[in-house]
Amino acid sequence: MRIILFGAPGSGKGTQAKELMKDRNIPQISTGDMLRAAAASGTELGKRAQAIMESGQLVSDDIILGIINERLNEPDAASGFVLDGFPRTLKQAQGLQDLLAEIGKPLDAAVLMDIDFDILMKRLTGRRTCSTTGKLLNIYFSSREELDECRNSGGELIQREDDNEETIGERLDVYRRHTEPVIEYYRSHGKLKTIDADGSVDEVHERLLQVLGG
Ligand code: AP5
Repeated sequence: MRIILFGAPGSGKGTQAKELMKDRNIPQISTGDMLRAAAASGTELGKRAQAIMESGQLVSDDIILGIINERLNEPDAASGFVLDGFPRTLKQAQGLQDLLAEIGKPLDAAVLMDIDFDILMKRLTGRRTCSTTGKLLNIYFSSREELDECRNSGGELIQREDDNEETIGERLDVYRRHTEPVIEYYRSHGKLKTIDADGSVDEVHERLLQVLGG
């Protein structure tokens, strides 16, 4: 299975990609996670990417396509993958199309996680990652047990640098201008599937499995 999950910041791409990774035993390939890892390791690329991410803008298409090219050539991606947060411009979508044509492995589906923008602010300002388990949590939506599980393991709830109201506003604006046109790209290529991304994590996951054919 080769699929893309795309949608606005906070629509739940990362959450659902992790579920799919468990279900289908395919890697989650998140350009956001890869850029944050580069930033944490302090490489030149990482430092440049960090500044861009903190401003809510997009890292250049050439850098992103280079990273994806390398990642898709790793052995674990041979049997499939779920792309999370890529492509998010028309140039990236075209670049991916060329890359997959080269290796003769077409995309199965591009799933748009559709959600009202007013729900996203709470999801993003409430998002935390547990420093010990790495689990994605939310101070508004996760259960008390899940939050306590992190604290009891000696972990801290870490907030992303770009999850503040000002940067979130910028990210939503960038999404409207650069990523929304990608919806039409996949519709015209007959690959677009849309799911309602509002509801519990389990409900959204059910919808995702349904559009992917069970
Ligand atoms: P990236 O990391 O991709 O961020 P994003 O697209 O803004 O998306 P998010 O990770 O914020 O949200 P998500 O949809 O994954 O939601 P999540 O599951 O976490 O990119 C960050 C930056 O990197 C970009 O701004 C850009 O600078 C750069 N970048 C990355 N890719 C790039 C590219 N291709 N080109 C150029 N630049 C790139 O959920 C959010 C919260 O909601 C969590 O707390 C979660 O627990 C909660 N939640 C999820 N689902 C539900 C639900 N159903 N009900 C209640 N709560 C829920």
